[in-house]
Amino acid sequence: MEKKKLRLILLLFFFFFPVSAFSSDFVVAPPPQSMDKYYADSGKISEWITQMRKLSTAYSAIFVSLDKKNWGLAEKNSVVFADSYKKASEMIPEWEEEFDLKAVNELKESILEKDMGKLGAVAKTLGKTCSHCHSKHNTSVWARYHWPSTDTIKVLDPLDEKELRYNVFMEKLSDSLKRVSVNFEQEDFQQAWRSLDVFKKRLTSLRSVCSKCHVDEWTKSSTSVKDFFVGDDILAALQEIKKDFSTGEPSEKVFKKNIDYINKRSCKTCHLVHQPVAAIQQAWQQKTPPTP
Ligand code: HEC
Ligand code: HEC
Ligand code: HEC
Repeated sequence: MEKKKLRLILLLFFFFFPVSAFSSDFVVAPPPQSMDKYYADSGKISEWITQMRKLSTAYSAIFVSLDKKNWGLAEKNSVVFADSYKKASEMIPEWEEEFDLKAVNELKESILEKDMGKLGAVAKTLGKTCSHCHSKHNTSVWARYHWPSTDTIKVLDPLDEKELRYNVFMEKLSDSLKRVSVNFEQEDFQQAWRSLDVFKKRLTSLRSVCSKCHVDEWTKSSTSVKDFFVGDDILAALQEIKKDFSTGEPSEKVFKKNIDYINKRSCKTCHLVHQPVAAIQQAWQQKTPPTP
């Protein structure tokens, strides 16, 4: 078989798995309990991920060897792959069915027989087991093991001087932003100015929360996650509103422009990033999911 064709097959294996036919009943259920132990030490890379990397590298190595027409090496790689694939299939009993051990044996055979036709077919079958499981379970696994829960976080409210639960703090933050607009619409600019200060204090307080999840934050020197959603651009928008207030005749256009900016660049964008997972975690705890 020519190099070009092999390369093509390699590409097909890795990038062109059709999304399997479970989409209609896609459910983000919590991952199996037996997975917990592989993620128990949060300071270390999960044993599951280590196993995935092992089998994935071995799998690629098979095709790289074939690309170089090195059947002997391909055979060796296929043994390493078979072992690590089998080991993975034993790690989480609830997922045993997601693995196709028969196909792995056929893969080894096809290499021994140098049968490219068989190899192509069986690699496709195997590849589907990877992508099927990933599409079906990665979201759950990420939500459970890679995202800290907002439940564990308290935010200091600078006005009440109390540690509040995350979503309670959000309600307060939201309330103070709404007050700014209501005061403005009622043309009570003095009150709007005060509300703006309250809002600014709460938003600034939110900055101290990021590092509770973004723990390696301090290692980044130039950009910080805090440049997003609660960054200087948001404070500048608030400042612009204040400056306009101080003219005595605030313009609705300036006000709206800046409030819209804050709504979009702070609240909305941060929700788009952080809220779906919080909602999934809450559903798992059988609590009511947060309102948008
Ligand atoms: C039974 C389910 C299942 C099967 C089958 C499976 N995987 Fe995975 N794999 C996962 C899950 C779940 C993750 C996500 C782990 C995480 O991010 O914590 C993952 C992650 C990975 C990763 C990313 C590891 C990292 O560095 O974060 C690679 C690469 C990978 N799998 C390759 C493969 C390949 C190649 C196959 C098929 C030959 C395969 N997997 C089969 C469940 C599976
Ligand atoms: C409950 C935990 C939690 C809190 C609190 C939190 N984040 Fe995140 N955030 C995450 C996780 C998990 C990700 C996914 C990527 C990662 O782990 O960095 C993420 C991703 C992001 C991203 C995408 C890019 C990147 O660098 O990871 C940004 C930007 C971000 N967060 C900003 C913030 C800011 C700003 C705050 C504080 C105002 C904040 N986050 C508070 C958990 C959190
Ligand atoms: C650091 C990212 C971040 C920023 C910035 C942010 N939020 Fe949130 N917000 C969240 C997350 C995460 C939740 C879900 C919390 C939960 O359910 O535990 C949430 C939930 C909410 C809720 C629902 C609370 C409930 O009842 O569960 C409201 C209302 C809200 N935010 C308003 C706002 C407003 C208004 C702003 C902008 C001024 C804002 N948020 C800025 C992350 C953010």
